[in-house]
Amino acid sequence: MIMEEIIEHKRDGLKLTRDEIHFFIENYVSGSIPDYQASALLMAIYLKGMDAEETAILTLEMENSGEIWDLSDIPGLKIDKHSTGGVGDKVSLVLGPMVASCGGKLAKMSGRGLGHTGGTLDKLESIPGFDIYENIHEFKEQIRNVGMAIIGQSSDLDPADKKLYALRDVTATVSCIPLIASSIMSKKLASGSDCILLDVKYGCGAFMKTKEKAHELADLMIDIGKHLGKDVRAEVTDMDQPLGFAVGNNLEVKEAINTLKGHGPKDLFNLCVNSGSIMLTQAKLFKTTEEAKEAILENVKNGKAFEKFVEFVKAQKGDTSYILNPDKFEMAKNIVPIYSDKEGIIKRIDALTIGKCAMKLGGGREVITDVINMSAGIVLNKKIGDKVEKGELLCTLYTNKNEYSEIESETKNAFIF
Ligand code: URA
Repeated sequence: MIMEEIIEHKRDGLKLTRDEIHFFIENYVSGSIPDYQASALLMAIYLKGMDAEETAILTLEMENSGEIWDLSDIPGLKIDKHSTGGVGDKVSLVLGPMVASCGGKLAKMSGRGLGHTGGTLDKLESIPGFDIYENIHEFKEQIRNVGMAIIGQSSDLDPADKKLYALRDVTATVSCIPLIASSIMSKKLASGSDCILLDVKYGCGAFMKTKEKAHELADLMIDIGKHLGKDVRAEVTDMDQPLGFAVGNNLEVKEAINTLKGHGPKDLFNLCVNSGSIMLTQAKLFKTTEEAKEAILENVKNGKAFEKFVEFVKAQKGDTSYILNPDKFEMAKNIVPIYSDKEGIIKRIDALTIGKCAMKLGGGREVITDVINMSAGIVLNKKIGDKVEKGELLCTLYTNKNEYSEIESETKNAFIF
């Protein structure tokens, strides 16, 4: 088999065979297929697409390109959750303890933030001492004992995705539904859970700009799950404004703490309760989502969900005194209120702009080597549908930078009346 013919087949709109996909992944990972040929194939896939069967085969080949974790010796069904990424998305920090406090076993591998979206690992690392260890043994032990663990991405897992994602990033082939689906699903499958819940976001702050495209991606990932015998379910949720009020690492941890105590923003709380109830039924711990929802709400009320978060942070060596007393978290040097210069009703809050501004304030990375300021970010004071008077507070910027006037006006323009 030669790579040039595989590229030719896809260029001409043909369906790739299992052998062709296997040949490509095996030889690209080993280094015998160069980046220029892989790029040509990715662009042909981008332009001609892949059907559900080809995508499932590509997913399986990527999954098998590295280690596959076996969690089967942990009692019960293990559940994982994945969000396609958004702004202010601290769901895992809230959902994990909610689910684990009801008997669920959450086994989650998370990534770091890049560009306008934040990463769960960075948020967790804003808790002093928190360890995102990449050791499967500690990970398994903690799932067994605590009911949840969140681990950094292991370099031995899905090396095909690591190479392909880096190449897609620089060849304008990221926003391709079969490539996104196989990238997400191969990592999720390799990390060993029995059930997976996907939160596919759409809107200005998400990969998928329309609800239709988000449904297309969700359906394809569910289909891959079916082909490969896993219980995969998906929610399609909007990202036309940041989730909750806080955007930025320790600001989001503080919001997650409030939400676990039942005092968080409604949109975040409702999404976590809904997702959690689906996960608990996937894990067969409850018959219906209504029963699962009741159990979660009860555990928020009686404090067990918050206690589970404290237990989880302690197990991963984080300093729990920050969780018990969030005022201890480092505060940014400059706290800058942004007031409205008009009145009206908020129609949209451009999540992409808010995410980029939070990054520029120091709360995110432009390139992977950038160092994050954990206290930087933005806290909204208004959400879609809110009435605003002239001179009212729209949001507050948090930064250690001394020059931020451009970011101030950019942030203000993100509020569309
Ligand atoms: N997230 C992933 O893991 N892969 C993609 O291709 C897009 C989003």
